[in-house]
Amino acid sequence: MSPCVCWLQLTLALLLTLAAPGRGGGNCPATCLCPDPHTVDCSARGLTRLPEGIPLDVRRLLLSDNWIPRIPADFLVLYSDLVYLDLRNNTLSRVEAGTLSTASRLVFLDLGSNNLTEIAQGTFGESRSLIKLRLGNNPYLSAVDEDAFLGLTSLRELELERNALSTLHVGALSQLPSLRLVRLEGNPWVCNCNFASLFAWLMDNRQKLPNDIKQPIRGQGTPARLLIGLPSSGAPDVDSEWAAAPPHRRHLTPKD
Ligand SMILES: *[C@@H]1O[C@H](CO)[C@@H](O)[C@H](O)[C@H]1NC(C)=O
Ligand SMILES: *[C@@H]1O[C@H](CO)[C@@H](O)[C@H](O)[C@H]1NC(C)=O
Repeated sequence: MSPCVCWLQLTLALLLTLAAPGRGGGNCPATCLCPDPHTVDCSARGLTRLPEGIPLDVRRLLLSDNWIPRIPADFLVLYSDLVYLDLRNNTLSRVEAGTLSTASRLVFLDLGSNNLTEIAQGTFGESRSLIKLRLGNNPYLSAVDEDAFLGLTSLRELELERNALSTLHVGALSQLPSLRLVRLEGNPWVCNCNFASLFAWLMDNRQKLPNDIKQPIRGQGTPARLLIGLPSSGAPDVDSEWAAAPPHRRHLTPKD
């Protein structure tokens, strides 16, 4: 072997070592892209489970538009540096209690467009860094425990739109000290006593409703009723205006 080839091999080996992302020279999972040392992008890869070989120090993990049905309960124990986890548009039917309890750095979690049916108490326990939680477009999501979000002390944005919620305990929202934006439209609300207290809370906190929905109806009094997509009969007593709401409100809360 000529000295020249030897030198070339050495240089290449050195370059590859330097270019390898993460501590310990972690690799990129075979089917994914790793645009920077802390991002693993496996979106729309037809995955039916989590890919092998995700580097342990990943911070941004993009897994949207796959067919992943579950995440192991210890997933975030392993990936404790995760800040951003996008699981949008998969087939998750449940999040095991405690899955997120050790995710002390997680700031953004997208579980929208999955197949979740309920959000149990303690699901997100201890995720004190979590700022944005997307749970919309889960067509079978009909139960959210009053303490489902307990402990999410930094949570600012919560999306629960276009689920199957007929009721929601007001405590699920009122216990969130940092909440600034909540989306609830497109649910099949049933107007009973529970609903009346939720509605009253929304009226008192209408600044937390998203602007894009609030804008077109500014000046009409009660954005809350429009935001949450109330049915056209069975007005709760808390708002006498509500019963007189014009039918055109329906176009503000598209079902799909
Ligand atoms: C959801 O993911 C599937 C599989 O990748 C894809 O075909 C579909 O277009 C995605 N849906 C949306 C709304 O992005
Ligand atoms: C979603 O959940 C429903 C009801 O629990 C079930 O019938 C359906 O098969 C699920 N779909 C997928 C893609 O997991």
